[in-house]
Amino acid sequence: MKVVFHVMAFLVPYSSSLLFLVILAQPFPATAESYKYITPGLSLTASSNDSWQSPSGEFAFGFQQVVDDGFLLAIWFNKIPEKTIVWSANRNNLVQRGDKVKLMEDGQLVLYNDRKGKQIWRADTAGSRVAYAAMLDSGNFVLARHDSVNLWESFREPTDTLLPTQTFSQGSKLVAGYSSMNSSTGRYQFTLQSDGNLVLYTLAFPLDSVNSPYWSSETEGNGFLLRFNQSGNIYLEAKNGTMLVMISSDAPTTSDFYHRAILEYDGVLRHYVYPKSMNPGAAGWPLRWSPLTSSFIPPNICTSIRENNGCGACGFNSYCSLGHDQKPKCSCPPGYTFLDPNDVMKGCKQNFVSQNCEEASQETELFYLEQKENTDWPLSDSEHFSIVTEEWCRKACLSDCFCAVAIFRDGNCWKKKIPLSNGRFDPRDGGKALIKIRKDNLNPADDDVPKNKNRSTIIIIGSLLVISSVSLNFLFILRAFLDVLQFGYGKTKKLYLEPTDPGVTLRSFTFSELEKATSNFKEELGSGAFATVYKGTLDFDERTFVAVKNLDKMVRDCEKEFKAEVNAIGRTNHKNLVKLLGFCNEGEHRLLVYELIRNGNLANFLFGNPRLNWFKRMRITFGVARGLFYLHEECSTQIIHCDIKPQNILLDESFRAIISDFGIAKLLKADQTRTSTAIRGTKGYVAPEWFKNLPVTVKVDVYSFGILLLELICCRKNFEPQVKDEDQMVLAYWAYDCYRDGKVGLLVANDEDAVLDMKRVVKFVMIAIWCIQEDPSLRPTMKKVTLMLEGTVEVSAPPDPSSFISSIESF
Ligand SMILES: *[C@@H]1O[C@H](CO)[C@@H](O)[C@H](O)[C@H]1NC(C)=O
Ligand SMILES: *[C@@H]1O[C@H](CO)[C@@H](O)[C@H](O)[C@H]1NC(C)=O
Ligand SMILES: *[C@@H]1O[C@H](CO)[C@@H](O)[C@H](O)[C@H]1NC(C)=O
Ligand SMILES: *[C@@H]1O[C@H](CO)[C@@H](O)[C@H](O)[C@H]1NC(C)=O
Ligand SMILES: *[C@@H]1O[C@H](CO)[C@@H](O)[C@H](O)[C@H]1NC(C)=O
Repeated sequence: MKVVFHVMAFLVPYSSSLLFLVILAQPFPATAESYKYITPGLSLTASSNDSWQSPSGEFAFGFQQVVDDGFLLAIWFNKIPEKTIVWSANRNNLVQRGDKVKLMEDGQLVLYNDRKGKQIWRADTAGSRVAYAAMLDSGNFVLARHDSVNLWESFREPTDTLLPTQTFSQGSKLVAGYSSMNSSTGRYQFTLQSDGNLVLYTLAFPLDSVNSPYWSSETEGNGFLLRFNQSGNIYLEAKNGTMLVMISSDAPTTSDFYHRAILEYDGVLRHYVYPKSMNPGAAGWPLRWSPLTSSFIPPNICTSIRENNGCGACGFNSYCSLGHDQKPKCSCPPGYTFLDPNDVMKGCKQNFVSQNCEEASQETELFYLEQKENTDWPLSDSEHFSIVTEEWCRKACLSDCFCAVAIFRDGNCWKKKIPLSNGRFDPRDGGKALIKIRKDNLNPADDDVPKNKNRSTIIIIGSLLVISSVSLNFLFILRAFLDVLQFGYGKTKKLYLEPTDPGVTLRSFTFSELEKATSNFKEELGSGAFATVYKGTLDFDERTFVAVKNLDKMVRDCEKEFKAEVNAIGRTNHKNLVKLLGFCNEGEHRLLVYELIRNGNLANFLFGNPRLNWFKRMRITFGVARGLFYLHEECSTQIIHCDIKPQNILLDESFRAIISDFGIAKLLKADQTRTSTAIRGTKGYVAPEWFKNLPVTVKVDVYSFGILLLELICCRKNFEPQVKDEDQMVLAYWAYDCYRDGKVGLLVANDEDAVLDMKRVVKFVMIAIWCIQEDPSLRPTMKKVTLMLEGTVEVSAPPDPSSFISSIESF
């Protein structure tokens, strides 16, 4: 339904309004306005693009869809691409498709839901009868009496925006929106108080009561009216008309530019202009809303708010800095991340476990201070010391579990407590913030530090995987894969296969390509039971190092197993698993090409000297656990690694653990019985069920992980025959004894970091003991292990793993 009512759909300049005076026998308002009349009975429906436009079409009144099935009854700039909203009726109560606004027969303007018969909003005309409504070219929507006296104006009930010709009298207020995308009421208010002061307040969000002012015109007793005049100047005037305070004066003309002043969600009142056309007078102005930076109030929101309530211009634990556009930017200090990256005003959280107060003196060693110049949280003091040195200040904060940040400036030391509020970065500040962070960040979610792109690649030949259950589905996929593979041989030299998962592309190499890549298999990286591994570089990128694994003859015969492994590993994608880049299956040659991990394997770092510190070892523990959890439960085909040991855990430059070498794993075909399977795995890490007639499940990896975990805790091999004390020869055995006797400390006796983190050491030992239970069903899944390590799940007291020792002896 088209709603604009064309009773007098032509422009009525003021000069000719006398004519209408005669026709209507009523005086017109003395403004340079033109009219289109909306008479009782007319309505608009949310869903269509219907609106009531001003005569020039520059403004429209109607519904704007702001979210899925959420409409605002609003007034907006109608001739520019972005339909900038300047007023709305229901910012905290969006209406739905089908809801209506209607000028009722009795003269009330009502926003309502027909189905529920519910009224959502109405223009308050104090019961007087409205003769017509009109959207004016000024952006004012009015309800007028028969004698054209305005009973209600949108200009008198502003939302967050003022327009030229609009005045702002005592008691009026603007309330900021919640965010740039969400127009519901937010955290700031701009008001002309009855005492004559023009004031910006923070609000006690989500309530609308005010906290403290953060800007004031200081015109108490004098301020009377804020005027946004036709020339685009904004100023406060006294009752006698004298200008008291100029708010904005350097604006371009209103004939060439649209103007608006808005209290934005960040608490700043800004005057924006937008060129009306691309050509005249608009040279140099891009077609968008540009703020007049000289007129921002307050000029620096970051430093303006100083109140004990609330968080400041940005959320708790964050800090505010002015960007080059003079707009505030909220950031998290080092060691902290946003609670909600989509709503940075919600503040930041610590990314680490905070200091334990019970053992404050002990945990001191586990924290360090990160320095940040010119940053302060001036209102979060817990203590203040003067005439001290920076060194003293640092020590004082580190040894105080309540101290989250220390500020040091000119011999003064302020300790700050959580939550930090009113954070700001201000180049004129001159001090420095010392932010306390846990040394090794063990927050599980924080493992995604930027990866070093320089990781090289290894080509490994001839690994075999154990796939515990081969579903029919998988066989079909395998079949399809083999077909592609065979088809590929004769046709092209380079074949990019898409095995099964979209997004995973393995490269098929020719043998001569790999000969070239490895300079004729010159540099050997290692050899195992079934294969030899060589270092190589790929032709397309000399810096991409790869490990090329050449399968031994014996294994080469296992055509199907080879292909199954290629397929299964090729589909894995996890930061804690080595990446398979490609393969070669040409004649009798079977080779696999892997990413080369530079730093070597865990065995070198664990049993060598100097050994890895406790924090790196914990990080590696998490990495291996997550990688195994992925293999067991998260990748499309369940994979049992079968040979978890330190030699097969590679480390990259940042000591991230990367599980490699699926070399002795085996594909278990449906018809394959265990009789054909020799014991796989490495002495000391092999689960007891290999020696018994029990099915091999993912729990064999859990067992090996348990042994690895003990080795990681203690930095020694599980089996050390040269140890004098016989009770300590087998670590698994000794560890349980220590745990049973409450002497876990003996296991990490010379490791200072670990000794200081004893609670965690005990927990890890308990988890390890659970993992090495002889009965596979007692061992936790890798998922549970991960949750226990991370502290999400409690660790109960483990039973004696009992006869595991016998199985090791029988090996
Ligand atoms: C409303 O207008 C917009 C832009 O002019 C257009 O894309 C949309 O299809 C219209 N919707 C309806 C329901 O007419
Ligand atoms: C806008 O923000 C308010 C306050 O957080 C919230 O209650 C409301 O759901 C948000 N509205 C939309 C449309 O996101
Ligand atoms: C107008 O009012 C202001 C403040 O109330 C006062 O300072 C000023 O002198 C007055 N001007 C005139 C012309 O009365
Ligand atoms: C608007 O205000 C400025 C500053 O007081 C003044 O110079 C200008 O003439 C005013 N414009 C109109 C149209 O009143
Ligand atoms: C990769 O390593 C080279 C040499 O070691 C270095 O120059 C380059 O910046 C590194 N690239 C990346 C992305 O780390």
